[in-house]
Amino acid sequence: MTETPEPCVLLVFGATGDLPRRKLAPALFHLHVQGLLPKGFAVLGAGRKRLSHDQFRAFMREACDTFCACPPSDADWASFAPLLHYESGHFTDQTLFQRLNMSLREIDHRLHTHGNRLFYLATVPSSYPLLVRQLYDAEMINKAAHHPFTRLIVEKPFGHDLDSAIALNNQIADVFREDQIYRINHYLGKETVQNTLALRFANAIFEPLWNRMHIDHVQITAAETMGIGERGAYYEESGALADVVQNHLLEVLSLVAMEPPLSFDADAIRDKKIEVLRALRSLAGSDVLQTTVRGQYGASADGHLPPYRKEPMVDGESTVPTYAALKVFIDNWRWQGVPFYIRTGKRLAQAATEVVIQFRQIPFGLFDQEQVRSHIEPNRLVLHLQPYEGISLNFGVKAPGSGVQIDHTQMRFSYDDRHDGAPPLAYERLLTDAMRGYAALFARRDSVEEAWRFVAPVQKIWAQTPAGDFPNYAAGSDGPETADDLMAADGRAWQRLRPPDSSS
Ligand code: BG6
Repeated sequence: MTETPEPCVLLVFGATGDLPRRKLAPALFHLHVQGLLPKGFAVLGAGRKRLSHDQFRAFMREACDTFCACPPSDADWASFAPLLHYESGHFTDQTLFQRLNMSLREIDHRLHTHGNRLFYLATVPSSYPLLVRQLYDAEMINKAAHHPFTRLIVEKPFGHDLDSAIALNNQIADVFREDQIYRINHYLGKETVQNTLALRFANAIFEPLWNRMHIDHVQITAAETMGIGERGAYYEESGALADVVQNHLLEVLSLVAMEPPLSFDADAIRDKKIEVLRALRSLAGSDVLQTTVRGQYGASADGHLPPYRKEPMVDGESTVPTYAALKVFIDNWRWQGVPFYIRTGKRLAQAATEVVIQFRQIPFGLFDQEQVRSHIEPNRLVLHLQPYEGISLNFGVKAPGSGVQIDHTQMRFSYDDRHDGAPPLAYERLLTDAMRGYAALFARRDSVEEAWRFVAPVQKIWAQTPAGDFPNYAAGSDGPETADDLMAADGRAWQRLRPPDSSS
């Protein structure tokens, strides 16, 4: 889908927050410079901070100077700045919405945006129900018709557990149709995450192997070197499970494991993805403690990095996990018996988001049997999602010499070598898709709830049996030893966290 989006106004609630600063401002600016924004377009920021239009423009300029790969030139900025507007007020105040309405109409008139609206909720999630209700009361939502369009973009987290997710979905569904709601899971906007589908369905060689007959297990990792920074208050409420496993890891897992969709239509893809979530074997009772691992980082070995419990706005005795690893099974024809090991953690040794497809060991050794067991490694296809972006495949080759010695080598594809410049930012893709009305890369209600349903028993058991060994990994390490034990118990090992160019 590449058509230019229709003219519209993007109304951002919480416009001076962290997300607009780090993600939205650079994405919008890049889109503007590339000529990918609609002809009639404006941003209307709304927030509690009392700012003039010019002060809001200065805020956005600072954001772009800091977070754009190339800071804006004065000429580019001069053409972008007039698209930015701001209205201040409290979200409980109905007059704010009347003022917003007036500004929107004025922009429609001036920029020919035809009444098309994208409402972006970039506030704390507890404000979502209030904002949606205020938009409704101010008659700013067009639920009945498709033209002009009114769409809602909602940032994760969608609830903090199954019940709250259902409640939030119900509140939003009171005023918006499901096809008007764009729930952002920004992982889906990443080029390399989308490339998972291209790899699987634009190549004939992988699909015949993509099943329990040939795949031994799958590992999905989202490892970060960062700590929780200034987000302590939020993180204390969520932890690794709700922050990354429930959404990002399960989305990646669905893409890796889904059946081929009938088309690239949003619902064709989303229908196949939810089948995977529905087929996840539920973790319950004592299973939870056997097949999951949690961790919390302590200080780094050299004492330079503080422990989680000393981060700002974190309880000094917090039992919130900053690391989670789970062994999960997908109970369907394709994946029966194939474990998917998924893990995420903050303050690990290396930042790496990747999927490892480990193929089965060769069935019979032509070579020395001892060598087969101890030396011939199974093939591993690795999808490197970030920060290194590419694909690698390792395989055995004969080492030069008179004997039959098997060596291991790797084929690598790197996005950097193949394509000029950095791939587009996830938010560029997501914003333009929402403007075009293409929802494949957004989370549908049923998948959000299904993912919560899957993690709910883990949340429950972890809450009932607080970990007694926190902190159990040092900041800057590979994570808790118990995560290695989870794999070792099955005779397997995690892909080591290391820079992609270091030797395997
Ligand atoms: C967010 C989580 O959704 O994703 C963060 O709330 C996490 O805790 C982030 O750091 C990771 O995304 P990215 O794109 O920086 O890898």
